[in-house]
Amino acid sequence: MIKSKEDNKFGYISLINGSLIEIKGFRNQIRIHDLVKISKYNILGEVIQIFNDRVVAQCYENTFDLELYEKVINLRTPLSMELAPGLLANIFDGIQRPLKDAFEKSNGKGFLNRGFELTPLSRTKKWYFVPKRKISEDVQGGDVIGTVQETKIIEHRIMVPPNISGVLSFIAEEGEYTIIEEIFRIEQNNIEKSFGMLQKWPITEKRPYQELINPSEPLITGIRVVDLLFPVAKGGAVTVPGGFGTGKTVIQQSIAKWCNADVIVFIGCGERGNEIADVLKEFSEIIDPKSGHSLLERTIIFANTSNMPVSAREASIFSGVTIAEYYRDMGYDVAVLADSTSRWAEALREISGLLEEMPVEEGYPAYLASRLSRFYERAGVVKNIGCDASKKEKISSLTIIGSISPPSGDFSEPVTSTTKRFVQAFWALDSRLAYSKHYPAIDWLSSYSNYPEYLSEWWQKRDLHWHEMDIDWNMCRNQINAILSRENDLKNITQLIGETNLPEEQQLTIFIAKLIRNTFLIQNAFDLIDCYTDTKKLIAFIKLILLLDKEGRDLLKQGFILEDIKELEVISKLRRINYTIPNDEFNKISNLKNELFNEINSLKLIYGALEKR
Ligand SMILES: Nc1ncnc2c1ncn2[C@@H]1O[C@H](COP(=O)(O)OP(=O)(O)OP(=O)(O)O)[C@@H](O)[C@H]1O
Ligand SMILES: [Mg+2]
Repeated sequence: MIKSKEDNKFGYISLINGSLIEIKGFRNQIRIHDLVKISKYNILGEVIQIFNDRVVAQCYENTFDLELYEKVINLRTPLSMELAPGLLANIFDGIQRPLKDAFEKSNGKGFLNRGFELTPLSRTKKWYFVPKRKISEDVQGGDVIGTVQETKIIEHRIMVPPNISGVLSFIAEEGEYTIIEEIFRIEQNNIEKSFGMLQKWPITEKRPYQELINPSEPLITGIRVVDLLFPVAKGGAVTVPGGFGTGKTVIQQSIAKWCNADVIVFIGCGERGNEIADVLKEFSEIIDPKSGHSLLERTIIFANTSNMPVSAREASIFSGVTIAEYYRDMGYDVAVLADSTSRWAEALREISGLLEEMPVEEGYPAYLASRLSRFYERAGVVKNIGCDASKKEKISSLTIIGSISPPSGDFSEPVTSTTKRFVQAFWALDSRLAYSKHYPAIDWLSSYSNYPEYLSEWWQKRDLHWHEMDIDWNMCRNQINAILSRENDLKNITQLIGETNLPEEQQLTIFIAKLIRNTFLIQNAFDLIDCYTDTKKLIAFIKLILLLDKEGRDLLKQGFILEDIKELEVISKLRRINYTIPNDEFNKISNLKNELFNEINSLKLIYGALEKR
């Protein structure tokens, strides 16, 4: 009997192997990445292998209770994200099911039934659309044709989908529309196509841009050790490896809260469920000091629920980055925070094991590197396709910060060493620092960033010109690095002969290094003032420490002793700068500078008087 085209859509389960199922009965027309819907539970899966008599799909939900010969439907489309107003301030699982709605629908039971189906974005909510283009204008992919105020902070720019161009033959008037109502039509070669606000994009495909450009601006994180020593550029890629409890999640969350990106996509990849609930609660409670609105209004969260198997973790990584690219295309600076990518890599390993593929290193498949690179290479500063509402070109960025949890904190393991190849900055979290409560536990000796050369110019424009300490951000970095590495060089000898037996000049280095570590590098993410340091406070803070170092050395040369320097009263005030001087009162640090000079002068006067006697 010849099967009809419709029949080709159906197959049946011929084998169940953990989260993988084998399907027989599909004829032709099945492609890698196509979605399938499995059994009466409507479990979603993705085709990952095709043989001539069967295909293999990985399921995004648990496969228990599935039976052989149950029906499978080929949906003939890859996993795609719905893109439209309504994404911000929302929380989705890896396959973009809206979790807030789902939890409400589960009557507060807190868990979701398998195969539950909800459209990612509301079809009935109305959004106020303002047209920005007129009928008969030529438009092309990426052009902003209208706007919707999606949240109080972020304007959603409705764009012509990529790969579409022509003449605008219809555009809706200003007013309220749902995301599925028609709002514009484009005519090309006598064919007219209709569009609503809702667009879709497959998660495995990069969204197109005109060209990649060099980064030139920092992503200001508010974390002092990062912004000064190991900065990340907007459009950069960074990894944060760290053993158990070393502070990965706290770093990711504080960047999500305070960094100067416009839009944040936070991907909790296989992390504990309650962490995600905490994130959601915290974000809604924190008010952005600049806009006065909840920080959730610029944030989209992806989270996997505990009843989803490992394959959903990979989906959440690529789903998150696809949505980030969509906001980037509107002209925004977007930051993607993925916590933690190890959970995702473990998922790849597990599935590869089920497929009986030949493992390469520690059980990870040979394609681990290509998967990681496919994720991190989606970062960058780009000149976008299309123009903004005033017909100017759009430049925007996508920054990726991914954490890694290497087993027993060993950075030579495959996920860390492979990720290192694809990122330009590496914030190594050190367990010893974490145990001694030095947070953020970013090790200043083994971390690095290749971005400073791109960012010096930006910082030069924001320098505080202190004639007593007229050095720029880059020179501050170099001097701080030099002091910290000298301290490290002196470590062995100090252990042998004791600190007090070193020459005073070396003791001063150790004293200043300790001051840097305990006041500048340590930062309490939970203190109202210390949680975020802006650029002005950062520069003033570090210059004051370097000034103390310089003046201290001068005093030693003039015959003063180290104790005189250590007893300067201004030092005890310097130690408290991080939690006593808010960002907008950074001028108080200049006052401390004046106090330092006054104290030194009176010290000199006293000594002068003593000598005369
Ligand atoms: N900057 C910080 N300021 C104050 N406390 C911090 C800071 N960073 C981390 N901590 C403390 O360390 C604890 C563990 O941090 P966190 O949960 O971020 O670690 P993690 O590396 O994500 O752990 P896991 O490996 O379990 O995911 C926090 O609960 C907090 O008490
Ligand atoms: Mg964590």
